[in-house]
Amino acid sequence: MSAIVVQGYCPLKGEIEIQGSKNAALPMMAAALLHKGTTVLKYVPIIQDVFCMMGILESMGCACSRNGHTLVIDARHIKTARIPRESGKAMRSSIVVLGALLGRCMEGEAYYPGGCSIGSRPIDLHLAALRHMGAEIAEKDEMIIARTRGLRGAEITLSYPSVGATENVILAAVKAKGTTILKGAAMEPEIDALCGLLCAMGADIEGIGTSILTIRGTDELHDTEYQVPGDRIVTGTYLSAVMAAGGEAAFRRGSPQHLGCVLDTMQHMGADIRVTGDVTEIKMERRPKGIFITTSPYPGFPTDLQSMAMVLLAVGNGKGRLKETVFEGRFATAKQLHKMGAEIIIEGSEARITGKGSLKGTAVKACDLRGGAALVVAGLRADGETRITDCHHILRGYEDICRDLQNLGGSIRRES
Ligand code: UD1
Repeated sequence: MSAIVVQGYCPLKGEIEIQGSKNAALPMMAAALLHKGTTVLKYVPIIQDVFCMMGILESMGCACSRNGHTLVIDARHIKTARIPRESGKAMRSSIVVLGALLGRCMEGEAYYPGGCSIGSRPIDLHLAALRHMGAEIAEKDEMIIARTRGLRGAEITLSYPSVGATENVILAAVKAKGTTILKGAAMEPEIDALCGLLCAMGADIEGIGTSILTIRGTDELHDTEYQVPGDRIVTGTYLSAVMAAGGEAAFRRGSPQHLGCVLDTMQHMGADIRVTGDVTEIKMERRPKGIFITTSPYPGFPTDLQSMAMVLLAVGNGKGRLKETVFEGRFATAKQLHKMGAEIIIEGSEARITGKGSLKGTAVKACDLRGGAALVVAGLRADGETRITDCHHILRGYEDICRDLQNLGGSIRRES
């Protein structure tokens, strides 16, 4: 079992480049399935979830070849429209492959998806929308079997701006007959990236960046090359690391234009932040101030940075509060932080946190991807050594958190 060992109280200093975005890369890889040809994605992060998606595409007959951060997907030949059980269960975003499969093969089989254990994660909105577009979907035990005689454009209103459901509808609509109008769509920047790639492939999508998307179906897709944007959640993680440890650092390619609410919140907590082009600079000379943070869909404070915010409030000054509105069960990391001496009281979807200035190093366990990374951040502000086990969760989304923090002068190492 692999572990990450962090030595606390070592201020961070330096400049690093942020990896490509996981949540953008995965649906972009699924989009490649729509085209009987080649799609080249650049700046793809080298992480477990990307390998898992490559495995899914390869099992269907695509040829995937990776050279560094460039991934070439040749989807000329598809031999099966079934997502393998293991990969489907390992990663929730496997479900967006279903929309692309229906568009390309008029059928698709998937398993109820897994991924991080952060509360119940139903897919009712995905399935209802695909049915509305002409898919017949049977749910048998853990399987979803979808068939269509041809998807057709439809008017769909999502009752909640689900990121995955929005992506599934877009992928299904690109080759459907007629026009799809999607209202109540999620507006996360990763959706703009997906639409950007699809338009570069020849799709016709209007309203990108808004909650109403109009997608006119087409059969004319072509080979393309497209770049994945920098990972705003990884940038937010490393900004939090500097806020916890103290020091100053700069991050290149970290999509600061998509971090408005996060940067405002961090400034409110006492960080000095400056953005120039795609570089985000941060300087932290004090303990984070206790404030009230509520997660919400984009452009609000992202749920994926909620555990980092919890750590900052726990090592901060005064009383803070966190309200989680996106995933109900996303407080598992609080239990681990208690072991480190944090004062956190969970009441339903809220956490009340009393800043203690610092934590104490001890053995803790990563419960999910972002929660695991938050424990690394906590270790940077803990007395002594923090040993984080179950790090496979962290590897799903971070290329090399140890390398990145070492490059900023952090005392952190991986043990296997
Ligand atoms: C994506 C991100 C994840 C992020 C989340 C919210 C990827 C690979 N993952 O996950 O990192 O935390 O957006 O920003 O991009 N819901 C339903 N029914 C559905 C679909 C969703 O009730 O059919 C609920 C979920 O249970 C959850 C909320 O909607 O409470 C948000 O889920 P969603 O936006 O779909 O998140 P994901 O696409 O799974």
